[in-house]
Amino acid sequence: MNMITRRSFLTAVSTGAGAAAMLPRFTWAANLAVDIPGKAGMIVRSAHFLDLEMPLEFFNSWITPVPHFFVRNHMHEPSTWDSHGWKLTIGGEVETPISVSLADLAKLEPHTVTNTLECAGNGRGFQQPKVPGVQWQRGAVGTARFTGPRLGDLLRRARVKAAGKHVMFRGLDEIPGKVPPFIRSIPIEKAMDADTLIATHMNGSPLVRHHGFPARALVPGWIGAASCKWLTEIKVLDQEFDGNFMKPGYRMPNHPISPGGEVNAADTHSITSLGVKSIIAQPADGSSVKSRVFRMHGAAWAGEAAVARVEISADGGTTWRPARLGGQQARYAWRLWDYVWTAPQAGEYTIMSRATDDQARGQPQTAAWNPSGYLYNAIDQVRIHVLV
Ligand code: MTE
Repeated sequence: MNMITRRSFLTAVSTGAGAAAMLPRFTWAANLAVDIPGKAGMIVRSAHFLDLEMPLEFFNSWITPVPHFFVRNHMHEPSTWDSHGWKLTIGGEVETPISVSLADLAKLEPHTVTNTLECAGNGRGFQQPKVPGVQWQRGAVGTARFTGPRLGDLLRRARVKAAGKHVMFRGLDEIPGKVPPFIRSIPIEKAMDADTLIATHMNGSPLVRHHGFPARALVPGWIGAASCKWLTEIKVLDQEFDGNFMKPGYRMPNHPISPGGEVNAADTHSITSLGVKSIIAQPADGSSVKSRVFRMHGAAWAGEAAVARVEISADGGTTWRPARLGGQQARYAWRLWDYVWTAPQAGEYTIMSRATDDQARGQPQTAAWNPSGYLYNAIDQVRIHVLV
């Protein structure tokens, strides 16, 4: 495995403007070209704390290869690791606090979950009016096979007390200065779900550092922030953890607010499952197409729900036709879609995609605006120029 130093990323500093008082303390930076070992062809949204977006061309694979899988770090990745010395402790509201090594985890029955992991801020760059934070467009999302023991098996070993209602994860991130640590919690029901893992492998290989080596939580169908990387501590709590990354971080207003409006912090909830969403990978926005007949393609996902259909409009949303869904599917994984379209004549067209899930949820024309730009899922659209 390549050893990389934090210093190698420090080619630029965060350009973050001052966040409004209501916003959680997150950092972000500009788009920069940096060579990142283990990653290929990614859009660098931040090199200070590594934030890499997957370019549209890699939406062609149901399983995203690790070199193209997006990376979202709130702080520095651990600069040293010692897989032999690494321990994961489980304590708090349990009868028997335990501590396990990587070898102990390897002895537990492994389970594999194919999961589409999406950052809650994916699409933030499309929010109008603009909001601060990493200006992700479509690619803070990817699908991988995650393997490891079930979190529930470890919690059963530790024997959760009746008072244990939430499960907190702490990672080994290197915390810069006074930034609050990346600690979040999930409700006990989701922690005990048979598909919630302590993942040690991704696409059949041990996790690489960018994705949480030696072990990460994998909370399928939920926003990426739920899946804590470089896991070192699990603590069962009697209530939701209330640190920065739970409150005010990763919360949505309970009621729609007008774009640019203020949110009452008391009238918000913690984000859990992803919404329903589709994206157009090709043709790219602003591109020219050299043939009147061409294939469009993209992906659609729905968190804990299943994608029921994807529809395409080539006339600005007046008429919609069903796209073909790819045959590869798994409970928490996206569906790839494609659609062959014949343009009536040369000219400018707006192509749109919208997904509907098995709970009859659809994508809105305009995403629900919120000051952190979370859960952007507006109907996707691209402007293209058909040349002949
Ligand atoms: N875990 C730790 N310890 N530190 C982090 O900054 N980022 C979270 C989550 N787990 C984060 C973390 C966020 S916001 C996301 S979207 C996912 O990791 C991204 O996972 P990936 O980098 O493996 O794609």
